[in-house]
Amino acid sequence: MLQRFVLALALSLPSAALVAQDAPAARIASPDGRITVEVVTDHDGRARYSIARDGKPVIVSSQLGFLFTDVAKLDRNLRIASQATRSHDATWEQPWGERRHVRDHHNELRVGLVETNGDQRRFDVVFRVFDDGIGFRYVFPEQPALRRLNIAEELTEFTLATDATAWWIPALEWNRKEYVYKRTALAEVGFAQTPMTLRRDDGLHIAFHEAALADYSAMNLVRVEDRRFRAQLFPGTDAAKVERDAPFATPWRVVLLSDDAAGLATSDLVLNLNEPNALGDVSWVKPMKYLGIWWEMHLDTKSWGSGTKHGATTEDTIRYIDFAAQHGFGGVLVEGWNIGWDGDWFANGEEFSFTEAYPDFDIEKVTAHARERGVTLIGHHETSGHAAHYERQLPDALDLYERLGVAAIKTGYVADGGQAKVRDDDGNLRYAWHEGQAMSRHHIKVVTEAAKRRISINPHEPIKDSGLRRTYPNWVTREGARGMEYNAWGQPPNPPGHEATLVFTRMLDGPFDFTPGLFSMKSRHGDRVATTLAKQLALYVVLYSPLQMAIDLPEEYEAKPDAFRFIKDVPADWEDSRVLNGEVGEFVTFARKDRHSDDWYLGAVTDGEARTLHVSLGFLDAGRRYTAQVYRDGPNAGWQANQTDIVIEERDVTSGDSLELALAPGGGQAIRFIAR
Ligand code: NOJ
Ligand code: CA
Repeated sequence: MLQRFVLALALSLPSAALVAQDAPAARIASPDGRITVEVVTDHDGRARYSIARDGKPVIVSSQLGFLFTDVAKLDRNLRIASQATRSHDATWEQPWGERRHVRDHHNELRVGLVETNGDQRRFDVVFRVFDDGIGFRYVFPEQPALRRLNIAEELTEFTLATDATAWWIPALEWNRKEYVYKRTALAEVGFAQTPMTLRRDDGLHIAFHEAALADYSAMNLVRVEDRRFRAQLFPGTDAAKVERDAPFATPWRVVLLSDDAAGLATSDLVLNLNEPNALGDVSWVKPMKYLGIWWEMHLDTKSWGSGTKHGATTEDTIRYIDFAAQHGFGGVLVEGWNIGWDGDWFANGEEFSFTEAYPDFDIEKVTAHARERGVTLIGHHETSGHAAHYERQLPDALDLYERLGVAAIKTGYVADGGQAKVRDDDGNLRYAWHEGQAMSRHHIKVVTEAAKRRISINPHEPIKDSGLRRTYPNWVTREGARGMEYNAWGQPPNPPGHEATLVFTRMLDGPFDFTPGLFSMKSRHGDRVATTLAKQLALYVVLYSPLQMAIDLPEEYEAKPDAFRFIKDVPADWEDSRVLNGEVGEFVTFARKDRHSDDWYLGAVTDGEARTLHVSLGFLDAGRRYTAQVYRDGPNAGWQANQTDIVIEERDVTSGDSLELALAPGGGQAIRFIAR
């Protein structure tokens, strides 16, 4: 295999025809041979790459390079000075995740580029080509002419070979990542965040993303002309968007490729491009479901701040802990427990204390009670984006939670885009973007400090996921898209196709603390949320998160004990995950196997259209009988009427059976397959 692949490489062959156009090429193919990547230098000495699949162009000649704030750009006058290849095929184990075993099978090409003039500065571009896409990164070795890199912009381009339909959200906007995905023609994409997902007319699905985003600024894509996109990094706190000392490597630029939408959602490519676990023993990281003093604040029947509406009281928290213990939940989130919420908390991050509780919240008593009942508090640190203020209190704040046995913390960075606050090297307070280099460093600091105390982290208004959970397995989940909270506020609420879009866009980057489990079906204004009850259950299988919330009030769950049983049963950690069908923004069906039993679970959701999905149960273990507990939309169900019309029934099945899943408009279906 390796030999065949090495032979297939075209080494520097200076044919006359090639030299006139593009100088000697370096090439590499995926293990299955279907995807090929070529790197050339053109007549100006610009480095360019292209990608083809099954011989058909996907990314045509696209530039590589850099602009700096203080020295000449790395752009023209480059030559390929070296190339080296290697193959890799190994399987590694996730401590928790969508599947236990992950295969990393790729071929790598390292191209050394050198300037032909001046200081002859040099850098490498490393391509890894998998059967389901590619990743490439820039690597800067130590060299006298490039010690400190003040990067003004990457010149990385992605020029699509054909038109496509695109799903995308705008970049560099005030509401960060919390936009409804637009579906447009490629030609109508302006300035987009990644991941961005495309579907070509020939069915090829393409997603642009990045991996291992650490100490760097996140990548957006701007459409420069026609089908040509260029990377645009989030601004820094100074003129440079990124400041790094050589040697260093950039994050990986990722292009996922699949014949169908399902193939995007099951790709492990981004995880494979990340470094292995850097934390050692992480058996203390525990996936779990949790309840919280939370939805009532979003409904505005309780408040974060002090006063008669204060939600985080000792009494109410104990009631939640007892309910959690009774129904087998691992945690209870308590928001609004600490001083700082009174007044305009969006704007006054410096008011927060992360160690002092409001007088009506006895943190010692509450956590002692939780420990006694085998439940953990999920801590909460809302910073209003004031990362500098939070960092100053971080050691004390984490020490307190460690002493009290808190296993996980939800952090929050509510501030408009570009208005997080960090301290620069001179100690001055600076505005920062949530996904710029300074916040990238901040998140890793929080995660690594928390790891020292055996605490997991779940940031809201976060930097995007880029697979760093592999390296820091206590970085369990995050927000970074429109979650359930928009359905409480209704300005406007999430559309019915939102979840079937998220799976193939935002969730290509990793777990999402979406916070499902709405049983009351209404916003704070009494408007209908675009869901059925069965769909809320299905979301526990469809939207992966190792911290998975049940958002509604205990009394709502007590009122519907039969449907609630599914939320109690469904795990938050999986042995395996499959996507049985799906189209971006329309519908999707997941099947997942429990990591701690032989049971399987299925979740299917649709957009505003009713549909019947035919699924084979071939994923079940052969030769085994299962009791299928089905939670399906009732005959009159729909998101615009009879949202809670649900049928709960049991039947015997085997892997030889198939099912017709009838989904109501805005509906879904959840099934537990109990192995017998
Ligand atoms: C926004 C978060 O997404 C939400 O879950 C939280 O309740 C508020 N910020 C307050 O921290
Ligand atoms: Ca949010």
